[in-house]
Amino acid sequence: MENITLEKKGAVAVVTISRPEKLNALNNATLVELKDVFQSLTRDDSVTAIVLTGAGEKAFVAGADIKELSESNLHTGGEFAKFGQEIFNLIEQSAKPVIAAVNGFALGGGCELALSCHVRLASKNAKFGQPEVNLGIIPGYGGTQRLTRLVGKGTAMELILTGDLISADEAYRIGLVNKVYDQSELLDKAIELAEKISSKGQVAVKNAIRAINAAGETPLQEGLKIETDSFSICCGSNDFKEGTSAFLEKRKPEFKNT
Ligand code: COA
Repeated sequence: MENITLEKKGAVAVVTISRPEKLNALNNATLVELKDVFQSLTRDDSVTAIVLTGAGEKAFVAGADIKELSESNLHTGGEFAKFGQEIFNLIEQSAKPVIAAVNGFALGGGCELALSCHVRLASKNAKFGQPEVNLGIIPGYGGTQRLTRLVGKGTAMELILTGDLISADEAYRIGLVNKVYDQSELLDKAIELAEKISSKGQVAVKNAIRAINAAGETPLQEGLKIETDSFSICCGSNDFKEGTSAFLEKRKPEFKNT
């Protein structure tokens, strides 16, 4: 891969988007690599959690590559958006938790990429925004939908209609990020969180992701059915037997993730 590096730290995979000279902007080649890497991590049984970050200390991802984007027109724009959406859907629907370590600018497609992750941690210097309106377009990689679901309609309207950038503290205040850390500790904190989730029973983790994702997509009664179904799957797992036995025997559970 040219624009992405993959490092494994035990059961945690660290995926780094690496085009620092262009602030890690997502050109087509990078998107293709991102898709490949997530597909291969889905199949990799040695990996139980994924951290996604950007190379350098300035940017997570500064958006879709504006040079490539500028060639879009009425006929090709839809395909451009759909390709990014396909990959971000893959990330959101990953059965393995994906934690965004937002280490700088997360703008446009970069903010949308972070939004597709399950948890977002940010460095103090991170800046978030959907500045597409400045280019005469709207967010096309899921921003109008995921940002609205996460922070609410009024705040999403304000961010998308003004294109304003907000600080990490403001992103924390509006619920766009879960935690804010010093740049120097961000990656370690993200790996620590990934390890913590990895230590739980993965049947439960996978089913929790599935059910929580459904909350943003379905009416309540349908979501509750998905919760019931996911809960039953967990009750039939070895992890459930181990978790409950360990509690009753006053010992630590040893999950086998089955
Ligand atoms: N697409 C393509 N190239 C990008 C890019 C993007 N989204 N964002 C930054 N770059 C490139 C710049 O063109 C520049 O390349 P160059 O050195 O070959 O000229 C390089 O990355 C560094 O960016 P620069 O603008 O010089 O850094 P800065 O510190 O002055 O400003 C930003 C940083 C993030 C404020 C600014 O780069 C920016 O506004 N980027 C676009 C953000 C955006 O609109 N994203 C949504 C796209 S849909």
